Amino acid sequence: MQIDIITIFPDYFREAFDYGIIRRACAAGLISIRAHDLRSSTSDKHHVVDDRPFGGGDGMVLKPEPIFAAVKSLVGADRRESMPPATRVVLLSPQGKPFTQSLAAEFANCEQLVLICGRYEGVDERVAEALATDEVSIGDYVLSGGEPAALVVIDATVRLLPGALGSETSAANESFSDGALDCPQYTRPPEFEGLRAPEVLLTGHHAEIARWRREASLEKTKRNRPDLLKE
Ligand code: 6GU
Repeated sequence: MQIDIITIFPDYFREAFDYGIIRRACAAGLISIRAHDLRSSTSDKHHVVDDRPFGGGDGMVLKPEPIFAAVKSLVGADRRESMPPATRVVLLSPQGKPFTQSLAAEFANCEQLVLICGRYEGVDERVAEALATDEVSIGDYVLSGGEPAALVVIDATVRLLPGALGSETSAANESFSDGALDCPQYTRPPEFEGLRAPEVLLTGHHAEIARWRREASLEKTKRNRPDLLKE
């Protein structure tokens, strides 16, 4: 999979992919990630990427031309309907649809993923209207730019690629793939500063352990994410 990031801060990503699963996926040739400076896609002398909003208001808006040009040079198309079949062009913005595990799984099936990092003041809406295949938000809070969101989307997507995780089954058993949160985990020592690990986990009774895990998982979901259980 080819992953291209369009950003005004390409250096933000300098070391971001040098760790863990993403580093291994790059080394194994499963993915190639490149961050592109939006300024390189301008055609004016001063490499201007933003301008004042029509109708007035605070802040600056990212201009459409450099973003359309950047996508055209990376994908070979600059309209949503002409994108190659396995290509997703994702605008990261607080106005997007929620990023979920199932959207990560869709992205993991594509050949090219292009991530456009917006600024919080805004991106000319013609990018969302005519260029991007998806407009995505990572949660109900405001980031100053889409760059941290791009890291989140890439991490969640790459770990679903066949061969990216140590064991193929580990992505199927986790939070959100079945509607509840993962169960709590413990390791040695059995007692740490008076805090004991649950005795049942030390017994080796597999059926009892499985039951405890189901219950602990539900308990934790009720406490931290009751919304996941209401359907
Ligand atoms: Cl994708 N971008 C920005 N700027 N803020 C966000 C976001 C994205 N997702 C949640 N907040």
